[in-house]
Amino acid sequence: MSQIRSVISGVGSYLPERIVTNDELSKTVDTSDEWIRNRSGIHERRIAADGQYTSDLGTQAAKNALEDAGLSADDLDLIIVATTTPDFTFPSTATIIQENLGMRQGAAFDIQAVCSGFIYAVHIADAMLKAGPYKRVLVIGAETFSRILDWTDRTTCVLFGDGAGAMILSREENAENGIINNFIRSDGRYCNLLQVDGGPSRTQTVGHVRMEGKQVFKHAVKDIALAMKSCAAEVDLEPSAIDWFVPHQANQRILDGVARQLGLKPEQVISTVAKHANTSAASVPLAFDAAVKDGRIKRNDLIMLEAFGGGFTWGATLLRY
Ligand code: ACO
Repeated sequence: MSQIRSVISGVGSYLPERIVTNDELSKTVDTSDEWIRNRSGIHERRIAADGQYTSDLGTQAAKNALEDAGLSADDLDLIIVATTTPDFTFPSTATIIQENLGMRQGAAFDIQAVCSGFIYAVHIADAMLKAGPYKRVLVIGAETFSRILDWTDRTTCVLFGDGAGAMILSREENAENGIINNFIRSDGRYCNLLQVDGGPSRTQTVGHVRMEGKQVFKHAVKDIALAMKSCAAEVDLEPSAIDWFVPHQANQRILDGVARQLGLKPEQVISTVAKHANTSAASVPLAFDAAVKDGRIKRNDLIMLEAFGGGFTWGATLLRY
């Protein structure tokens, strides 16, 4: 029987123009460049302009991914957008992007798994490509996280940024490359440790991010390492076999801790946290695209993606690019 694989046809990303440095933030909240760098590895973040929405960032990332793949919106039959900061409560940001791209066929929907959203979305896309009838899925992680931050809360507002990344997955038979395995988990016991304190049903407000940083940190290192080990073990691989580790960009110390636990060299870890900060569902495709475009990630490389976020949710994807 022929093996069907979801192969990456193209990747793209987009960052808003405005750069906000740690020094700039220290003028409005009681923090310092030194504290933010030492505790998180973040130097700066991008912030969307007034009137620039999650759908705008996602559309630009999608256009860049289509160009990278040499495809047009007519070639797509599904769009999945992972976001926690949709333009509206409804319609989905995915349908707005569908309209922005001029795509008149197929379907589009959003999924919500906070910072793990892109990994969840890739898993869904992979399953739908394998089940059929879909042939080409555009998967986007896009966020304007700056819009749900409490800019007076120094324990959260210094950690996040805005951006978008996109990946086009195509159904191919007997391909050597593509998604090899997906692993996702969640544990709702911890939903209070990382949450937004507003929402349509409970408060009729949008709310702000609240986080018990230390506890999130401990769970993140443990669960990410386990997810990567499980994702590799299910296909009889050791994590040490991978060429590149493309993690969710929450904190450089989490990246270092996970790499140490798995015996990976620091130079195998794609880190964009210094320049992007935590862009939630956008962070993995943003980092992936950065490493493809600067020539580090090459075709046929074995790559592990991973993420951890509110819920808690976490997961990993093993793929050959
Ligand atoms: N500037 C200066 N001081 C600060 C700041 C700041 N921005 N923020 C906190 N502090 C202070 C605290 O008040 C505390 O002071 P105290 O000792 O007088 O009480 C001190 O610094 C230490 O604070 P901690 O919270 O203990 O610092 P920690 O070393 O744990 O680092 C951090 C905090 C960066 C948040 C870290 O815990 C972390 O990265 N956690 C994980 C975040 C994460 O992975 N999130 C997952 C995804 S996010 C998503 O899904 C939406």
